[in-house]
Amino acid sequence: MNVSKAVNIADLRLQAKRRLPKVIFDLVDSASEDELVLAKNIERLRAHTLIARVLQGVPKREQATTLFGRPYSTFFGIAPMGMIGIVRKDIELSLAEAAHAAEVPMILSGASAHALEKVVPKAPGTVWSQLYAASDPKITEDLVRRAEAAGATALVWTVDLPVYSKNDRTIRNGLGIPATLSLGAKLESLLHPTWIKEYLTGEMAKMGHWECYVPKGSSSGEILKFYLSQKNSMQSWTEMETLRRLWKGPLIVKGILNGEDAMRAAELGADGIIVSNHGGYGLDRAPASIDMLPGIVAAVGSRLVVMFDGGVRRGSDAIIARCLGAQFVFVGRAALYGAAAGGMAGASRAIAVLKDEIDRTMGLIGCALNTSLGAHAVRRPAAPWLPAELPDLALEPARASRPGCVGHTIAGVGR
Ligand SMILES: Cc1cc2nc3c(=O)[nH]c(=O)nc-3n(C[C@H](O)[C@H](O)[C@H](O)COP(=O)(O)O)c2cc1C
Repeated sequence: MNVSKAVNIADLRLQAKRRLPKVIFDLVDSASEDELVLAKNIERLRAHTLIARVLQGVPKREQATTLFGRPYSTFFGIAPMGMIGIVRKDIELSLAEAAHAAEVPMILSGASAHALEKVVPKAPGTVWSQLYAASDPKITEDLVRRAEAAGATALVWTVDLPVYSKNDRTIRNGLGIPATLSLGAKLESLLHPTWIKEYLTGEMAKMGHWECYVPKGSSSGEILKFYLSQKNSMQSWTEMETLRRLWKGPLIVKGILNGEDAMRAAELGADGIIVSNHGGYGLDRAPASIDMLPGIVAAVGSRLVVMFDGGVRRGSDAIIARCLGAQFVFVGRAALYGAAAGGMAGASRAIAVLKDEIDRTMGLIGCALNTSLGAHAVRRPAAPWLPAELPDLALEPARASRPGCVGHTIAGVGR
């Protein structure tokens, strides 16, 4: 695939679709049940409008930012995505290398094909480690210890998948565990020779990060079965105290969708949260993450760093989340489509496309500094289902004037 020809993320998605067998493309492009959340995340972001201020003098736009003491070239990074080894050989290494080259963070999933220890050296300082707490506390402890020893720069605890959701498309496609293909899928995959060659020669479906917890010589299927058996449906906020004790670096809770949970995370010592609905892979009746973001920012103020993911396919989506109080934004599928289509070059293309769109959009709305992006620049669509007492941040009066932008601003932006 010639990823340099991709004009936008939708083009990269089409290139990924061409390269992958249907069952594998569906794995990354689907979500749970009726895929309502997957669609809603995108639709609700698109329903927001940006308000341009003219004659602001914007010869240079600055999207670089600092997060947890580290400088990044922009205010978005790559979200954790597990079980994607089957998509393309070494796909996590490609994502990490692309993130490193672009100076953005990459969160490696706790369900990764490559062990964290193998990924971090390819992208020193770039990789954060995502954790699904295991039902065996000794394994959880070891996963945290390994993250520290390997040099992960932040720990992200995902809390929004206490049980596995149901993915109708994957079930219908007959993709087995481990990633075994039905006869129909095998025949269809013959139409995708570059993928099938990798599949036949590599161990793409192996969950390398968990290999050390099973007897030596275990098959991919045995590793996966053990991983699935460690699903911790019992986890509670008490786990957070343990993690805080074990992990001294930035601790982030991912999968928060309301102010009360965000406050709880802050009280128990989290440094940050990611407002997220797992990109539609969890509860299919969850709200769009963008609709919950302003209320959460209003609830926690500056007590912790509020980050966001869900539905970002354009640079303007990331800007809208920034305007509504997210200090940092993560992209899942947008980067994955790129990496699936073209490995590191494709992931780099996805990052470059989004950065370019952010730059142009900042110019077009007359905002030179990303720290000055605020609620003044965005109009929220009606959301009648949200509680009436939520402040309408778009109408909140100015707290202080900031350089590079005029108008109103909101709590939490620009910390
Ligand atoms: C294929 C795939 C696998 C994912 N696996 C994980 C995971 O292992 N851990 C996790 O916290 N989130 C996981 N997610 C959710 C993402 O981290 C992120 O919340 C979501 O993709 C954001 O939505 P977007 O894809 O619309 O950007 C996964 C998402 C995808 C698409």
